[in-house]
Amino acid sequence: MTPRHLLEVDDLTRPELAEVLALAQDHSLHRVMEGRGAALLFEKPSGRTRHSTEMAVVQLGGHPVYVRPDEVGIDERETAEDVARTLSQFHAAICARVFDHTVLERMAQAGSVPVVNLLSDRAHPLQALADLLTLLEAGGLDGRSVAWVGDFSNVARSLAVAAAMSGIGVTVAAPAGYGPSDADLLRVRDLGGSIEVTDDPAAAVRGVDAVTTDAWYSMGQEAEAAARRPRFEPYRVDAALMREAGPGAMFLHCLPAHRGEEVTDEVLDGPASRVWPQAANRLHAARGTLAWLLGLRP
Ligand code: CP
Ligand code: NVA
Repeated sequence: MTPRHLLEVDDLTRPELAEVLALAQDHSLHRVMEGRGAALLFEKPSGRTRHSTEMAVVQLGGHPVYVRPDEVGIDERETAEDVARTLSQFHAAICARVFDHTVLERMAQAGSVPVVNLLSDRAHPLQALADLLTLLEAGGLDGRSVAWVGDFSNVARSLAVAAAMSGIGVTVAAPAGYGPSDADLLRVRDLGGSIEVTDDPAAAVRGVDAVTTDAWYSMGQEAEAAARRPRFEPYRVDAALMREAGPGAMFLHCLPAHRGEEVTDEVLDGPASRVWPQAANRLHAARGTLAWLLGLRP
């Protein structure tokens, strides 16, 4: 049987997304990985993703094998295709954090087990699933609204896709050149989603259920940090911006946060912040996704 993969949230249909979320919310253990392994390859550092995915595999009864950035050697030691073919001999799933999204596509094409995107330059689907779980815990998905403030990053793209598939409206406030591309807007709208773009953070956040942001520069973009900082200064999420959002708005952040840059301590540590339950949901999202990909259906 051809394996299913999760490289971006819309690799799932809407009913399948609902199934994955239902499995994620079921915290009883389904040991579908008993005696099986998962290869976790990281080309970049990770705090949450490594731990949540390792523990998800453990909770499913499997054995995670972490592969360090210097051990991966994709397209250096051997091709991405040969890495995937090799790991498919030993593991029930290949999970990878890569610089170049097309590496994941090549591994999915060549291997014979599910490939899970643990973050690429384009997408971070497990983060988006955790974000949906966090919104679900706060009352549901359909008809809710999220404001994305700052760089329209890999995390933003996956959240916009996930939102479109869940009836959540998205507003984006970003400096010119750092917002969603035409292709991003088309993708969200093709999925039936609503996405509006402005350069005014206050306008973007007014009345939304959640305000969220990400680092002003992502892993691999460190050389751009000095040039980006002045462009993003007006897009910091601070207490004044949260007041614009209104008393009902929660604050979300995928983390790691660059405190004092895209978000202030006051907001991150304040009463509206849901970032720690959101981080906890990374485990549930990973467990639900792996269980679903390995054949468990609710
Ligand atoms: N949110 C997230 O993916 O965090 P890490 O980069 O620490 O894994
Ligand atoms: N956009 C960030 C997210 C980190 C979880 C990055 O890619 O570095």
